Amino acid sequence: MNNSPLNKTVVDSKIELLRIPNVGKASIREIVALVNLVEEETGVKYIRMEMGVPGLPPSQIGVNAEIEALKRGVAAIYPMMDGIKPLKEEASKFIKNFLDIDLKAQGCIATVGSMQGTFAAFMAAGNVNKKKDTTLFIDPGFPVQKQQMMVLGMKYETFDVFNFRGEKLRAKLEGILSKGNINSIIYSNPNNPAWICFNDEELKIIGELANKYDVIVMEDLAYFGMDFRIDLSKPGEAPFQPSVAKYTDNYILFISSSKIFSYAGQRCGLMAISDQLFNRDYPDLQERFKGTSFGDTVTLRLLYSISSGTSHSAQWALTAMFKAANEGSFNFVEEIKEYGEKAKIMKALFLENGFGLVYKNDIEVPIADGFYFTISYPNMTGNQLVENLLYYGISAIALDNTGSDEEGIRACVSFVKREQFGELEERLKLFNDNYSK
Ligand SMILES: Cc1ncc(COP(=O)(O)O)c(C=O)c1O
Repeated sequence: MNNSPLNKTVVDSKIELLRIPNVGKASIREIVALVNLVEEETGVKYIRMEMGVPGLPPSQIGVNAEIEALKRGVAAIYPMMDGIKPLKEEASKFIKNFLDIDLKAQGCIATVGSMQGTFAAFMAAGNVNKKKDTTLFIDPGFPVQKQQMMVLGMKYETFDVFNFRGEKLRAKLEGILSKGNINSIIYSNPNNPAWICFNDEELKIIGELANKYDVIVMEDLAYFGMDFRIDLSKPGEAPFQPSVAKYTDNYILFISSSKIFSYAGQRCGLMAISDQLFNRDYPDLQERFKGTSFGDTVTLRLLYSISSGTSHSAQWALTAMFKAANEGSFNFVEEIKEYGEKAKIMKALFLENGFGLVYKNDIEVPIADGFYFTISYPNMTGNQLVENLLYYGISAIALDNTGSDEEGIRACVSFVKREQFGELEERLKLFNDNYSK
């Protein structure tokens, strides 16, 4: 660690202070806390790649709509449990315009971020059938969803999709689903952390097997429209965001405003339950929560108990952003392309300095440049790489936190500023000079 930009003793003392037993395995929030402390004491600014915070200003369309709603006095009024009517209607149009999927406003439900949406959905799906007590994660994935399962005391299985792309996915999924204990499947597309994107062939396999084994598919679209290899920005015009909803009626979509509209702070997202699933009666679910249909159980039993609805003013913001996108006056994809452009430059800096990409391809084509990418360094585990980079002023999380079987780390581009690229390059060069010997 010759000439590393940070004093090892300071970093080690903060690790001890935070009682982090193995820094390579630290969670996102532990790394955040550690880096904050080291930055404070040393004055050295890290290249912060650990957390998916939107690095762009919030959409002004949302901010203005929210201010107006507050001035109108909505803060005094409880919103409807399943979301305000204008939001539900614009959301349904948005899903038609950008996914080419027909879904009634009824099933479009406001949630306190996608986080709350998945929490409620896990709870509902976990109780639809007493014989099916397990959720299947197609990994790598967003670590906090596993934490949700842990908090709920619910069971999950997982596999890393790295070796099961394309048609290979069918046999892998079938092997798991045929055991009969799986109630739901969850994945994100584009994928956090690997930025792989399932293609229509893969989504069709997932949809067909969901039909065959009567399993609910939870498609997490937190990075909606962000496969920048294709232009998904035109309302009502192909190409559309690929979705499992084309291949099954047994689905829930999660559309987060955090990244696509840079609206993470207001905690307002959308859960969209298919018409068929919304209206389905599951006797075991009814017995457990004393509700009626699946959809009403989610809203009137689960969301009611958790937060009694979603911030009223933030729902007006989301309504305005969906409306402007639907009308074609707000090209939200254009606004977030910056992530892809930064990823391209940052990836190149890593590759020039001895690193390799872990998840490289979508079957035969190179993955897109977007919000995240995954990297490895020769002869280092992901945990070692996280730890070693911390002494060089670079922070990230290890891939084993995400259910990946590969050795490497996740790099998030959003928080790194372009002005820091020179510094990133210097630190990577120093790192490589010291470790490649
Ligand atoms: C895959 C995935 N799902 C969900 C979320 C959380 O979304 P929200 O901020 O809407 O709760 C994130 C945020 O990083 C994510 O990466």
